Amino acid sequence: MKIGLLYDRIRKDEKKIIAAARKQGISVKLINANNLIFALEKNNFDFDVVIERCINHARALYSLKILNEHDIKTINSYETAEICGSKFLVSEKLLKNNVKTPRVIITFTPEKALDAIEEIGYPCVLKPAVGSWGNLLAKIKDRESAEAIIAHKKILGSYHHSVYYIQEYIRKPGRDIRVFVIGDKVAGAVYRTSRHWITHMDRGAIISKCPVTDDLKNISLNAARAVNGDFVAVDIVESDSGLQVLEVEYTVEFFKFYPYLDKSITKKLIRYVQNNFPEENYK
Ligand SMILES: Nc1ncnc2c1ncn2[C@@H]1O[C@H](COP(=O)(O)OP(=O)(O)O)[C@@H](O)[C@H]1O
Ligand SMILES: [Mg+2]
Repeated sequence: MKIGLLYDRIRKDEKKIIAAARKQGISVKLINANNLIFALEKNNFDFDVVIERCINHARALYSLKILNEHDIKTINSYETAEICGSKFLVSEKLLKNNVKTPRVIITFTPEKALDAIEEIGYPCVLKPAVGSWGNLLAKIKDRESAEAIIAHKKILGSYHHSVYYIQEYIRKPGRDIRVFVIGDKVAGAVYRTSRHWITHMDRGAIISKCPVTDDLKNISLNAARAVNGDFVAVDIVESDSGLQVLEVEYTVEFFKFYPYLDKSITKKLIRYVQNNFPEENYK
């Protein structure tokens, strides 16, 4: 079986995946997205499955679409990448599949955004409908800050800022949970604990191992299924009314959590590729 690994920078995560594949006797063909020239009508791809690892979302998205159109299986699929690249689409999929997630309102004008914020109540969270790494998230505590942020978006914002994604704020216990899912199995979970409401490591979050309860497992697997994910990370918050899913990530960064995860996460990923995309399908 020939596995391709599509990347734009080889990080420690990618090194671990390559090493795990080699250990299983599988050679991984490295595909540098920076050097790609895709002819839309015809391509001779020399691999059976591609594990997508691009940092750049647009590169990932376009490459996955082209590969999938040429019947190359990818992890994750174009469909999953498209959904997970948009907080709006993830919220929609979660809702449709009865996966508990905070309430969201979408509006398109500053006036309606203010109405929607007042309706959701304070505090609430304003997010870019497309975005990640905690960029441009705003916790809005009162009408004055709502007006200020909306005014900034209106005047300084780009095209993306014409969509207002307004979410209910969940009073969580100073942490969130990231669950790693491969296929229909949970491959590990961590707490991210921080004094900042955005519980990211670059905002000072401390990582610790999180026990995988049945509830956590069920909601994570349901969220992964809702986006048709093969290898995804599900961000979850604990609320007064139980676990709720915030978002699902598709190019999963796992290395920074490595000390708190089962070291076989990459082995599980390679096994999953071998079992779910067997060679005989590519004749
Ligand atoms: N509605 C919310 N209620 C409480 N905390 C939130 C909410 N939305 C986001 N957060 C916090 O901010 C972090 C980042 O939010 P997220 O939606 O995952 O954006 P990003 O894609 O930038 O990671 C979450 O991990 C969580 O700690
Ligand atoms: Mg997140």
